[in-house]
Amino acid sequence: MSVGAMSRVLVVGRQGQVARALAAAAWPDGIALACRGREALDLADPAAVARGIAADAPDLVINAAAYTAVDKAETEPDQAFALNRDGPAALALACAARAIPLIHLSTDYVFDGSKAGPYLEDDPIHPLSVYGASKAAGEQAIRERLATHLILRTAWVYAPEGQNFLRTMLRLARERDELRIVDDQMGSPSAASEIARALVAAAGRLLAGQGEPGTFHFCGEGATSWHGFAAAIFEMSHGPRPRLVAIPSSAYPTPARRPANSVLDSGKFRRAYGVAARPWRDSLADCLAAIEGAHARAGAPA
Ligand SMILES: NC(=O)c1ccc[n+]([C@@H]2O[C@H](COP(=O)([O-])OP(=O)(O)OC[C@H]3O[C@@H](n4cnc5c(N)ncnc54)[C@H](OP(=O)(O)O)[C@@H]3O)[C@@H](O)[C@H]2O)c1
Repeated sequence: MSVGAMSRVLVVGRQGQVARALAAAAWPDGIALACRGREALDLADPAAVARGIAADAPDLVINAAAYTAVDKAETEPDQAFALNRDGPAALALACAARAIPLIHLSTDYVFDGSKAGPYLEDDPIHPLSVYGASKAAGEQAIRERLATHLILRTAWVYAPEGQNFLRTMLRLARERDELRIVDDQMGSPSAASEIARALVAAAGRLLAGQGEPGTFHFCGEGATSWHGFAAAIFEMSHGPRPRLVAIPSSAYPTPARRPANSVLDSGKFRRAYGVAARPWRDSLADCLAAIEGAHARAGAPA
């Protein structure tokens, strides 16, 4: 794919799961990528956002940064809203001033999980948590400020690095013989590398002036519970295999309430951008192989 003259894509976020995956992704010739961490572009500071965008003079911005501590957000609502609503609002204003598109990541947690079946983009939102409410407010702030936006909601993100369920399971398996895992929340595990593949395609189309703006969903294809996700991890990994006990959410209270159904339908994105979601188990197998390969090279257990 080529988009003509050299285009500059600015990724907000550097160490995050999706930000790293974007840095590692296969970008087409003609796109120069710059990933900026909070020291270069502090999303909590609107003036710094405007300065950061002006300094890089991008042709498109991807916001992979957010306040993602779902439980902590319950007691830090100001920080969550500053990063997840006001930061994206400042980004959208800066993009509008330059007349460039903004791609923004959002979450399944804007929904309350009461729907039977996968969520579509125009299903009513009803966040159950501060995090979900702050992300929903960020979506709205962007829609109000910039027509050329693409909001990509995803869910249950994991990667070889960073804070995620997969890495937590591998760590706990080394510490305990038995793990009690919630079995009544359904979702679609989504590899950060897959999200990056979708974002690369979307950025290319938007830079070429051909992308459809709006709100889209993109997750691993298929659905499972956290317990099912854990079972798949230990089926595929070569490390210790703890006994898994399925428990209801009520037996694992957390500060933030989570939707019982987090499954998102990725069909609209496939139709608009030609990228089909990959079965979640296939991406999980690849991620585990990458983790185990890296540990083998380092001489440490996965
Ligand atoms: N994780 C999930 O399961 C999940 C599920 C659904 C949707 N999402 C959404 O997907 C997106 C990416 O999530 P992720 O899992 O990749 O996040 P992550 O691993 O938690 O990374 C968060 C990123 O935010 C950046 N950041 C935090 N505070 C910042 C600040 N003040 N200024 C600038 N950057 C700041 C971090 O910056 P540095 O690079 O400087 O460290 C990091 O790159 C987010 O919008 C999230 O809401 C995630």
